[in-house]
Amino acid sequence: MLAWWSFMVTLNTSSLSLNLACLNADRVGLDNNSIAEFHYPWLRDNCHCHECYHPDTHERILVSAEIPFCLRAETAQIEGDWLNVEWNDRGHKSAYQLTWLAEHSYSQSKLVSQNTFLADPAVGEITTWGRELQQNIATFDYAKLYADPSQLLAFCQAIRDYGLCIVRGAPAVEGEIERFAEHIACVRETIYDRLHNVRASPGEYNAYNVASTTLELKPHTDMPNYNNPPGVQMFHFLVNDSIGGESTAVDGARVAEQLKAQDPEAFDLLANTPMCFRMFSDRGDVINSNPLLTLGVDGELRVFRFSNQLAQPVNLPADKMEAFYLAYRKLGRLVEAPENKVEFRLNTGDIMVTNNLRVLHGRNAYDSSTGDRHLQLSYMDFDDVLSRIRMLLKT
Ligand code: OGA
Ligand code: ZN
Ligand code: ZN
Repeated sequence: MLAWWSFMVTLNTSSLSLNLACLNADRVGLDNNSIAEFHYPWLRDNCHCHECYHPDTHERILVSAEIPFCLRAETAQIEGDWLNVEWNDRGHKSAYQLTWLAEHSYSQSKLVSQNTFLADPAVGEITTWGRELQQNIATFDYAKLYADPSQLLAFCQAIRDYGLCIVRGAPAVEGEIERFAEHIACVRETIYDRLHNVRASPGEYNAYNVASTTLELKPHTDMPNYNNPPGVQMFHFLVNDSIGGESTAVDGARVAEQLKAQDPEAFDLLANTPMCFRMFSDRGDVINSNPLLTLGVDGELRVFRFSNQLAQPVNLPADKMEAFYLAYRKLGRLVEAPENKVEFRLNTGDIMVTNNLRVLHGRNAYDSSTGDRHLQLSYMDFDDVLSRIRMLLKT
């Protein structure tokens, strides 16, 4: 007569099936009554013995590529709360806790960008917005972001969920924005300046973009010329005494949503057509082509790139050009639509923070004869802000 456990595990050609219904649900902490299938390479890859996984660093030592193509389980047995497998891979033995297997069952999994095995506390719910946000932009007090970790957490979460927030009361001291970035995460440097001075002072330094003039800056994302643009952008106003120069912001996620609803073909085209951006100064020259809308595997917006001033002549097959320009202008008009734009004035000591992978920023033209305007900006990577959220939640 067969032992009771032999009814729970079935060995197939390339996988084994575990009948979770046969397990005592209380014992393994689940009420799953389905059959879970685990493929041999997946199981072998997740062997947590000390030979395969470093017990201190919790990192894999086993080299996944070296798992034999002809891998098979010789035997598989349930003993207590464990599934023990012996492989035809040099007789290697693996033991898997049943609760771990139940938690990592992928039998019902869908192809999604986030690994749902990890209960990631930094995953948020993005809220798209338009002009209605104007009176409700998340606003934080600079001193509290140092004194109160819950405020710092709320601030990082606002960057994650809205991609726009304002900090008031920062010291109007040069270099402050670098120190602030270090307080949250760390500065993301590029080949250009680590800290960017934005002011209209012709001749004082190498003015390499329109920001260094008094002209209007249409909503744009910074550094779309990078394959990995800086994720978070912070604008610190040392002085803002000119008439004009109000800040503007547009939620690229809202705009992308609108384009997808109005013209799905235009949306797909912009998600699949590379556009070239270039930014150069006497320090560097960075050029790359990427779609304006970079999507994840489940179609969600990963990176929104848009910069009228840095876009290079479009180079596409001739029969694609008309459709491209139609889609590009539709997107651009949504970016410019008054119902999608917030506009506000930032004063000395204010910091505006944007998710530069999603939210576009700009400013109105200003009259430098009416007063000084000088801001310093610096970047962080979005992943480092998410890391800060996880670390704050651990304390
Ligand atoms: C920039 C920029 C905004 C401003 O320098 O990239 O967008 O308010 N500046 O001057
Ligand atoms: Zn092992
Ligand atoms: Zn900018």
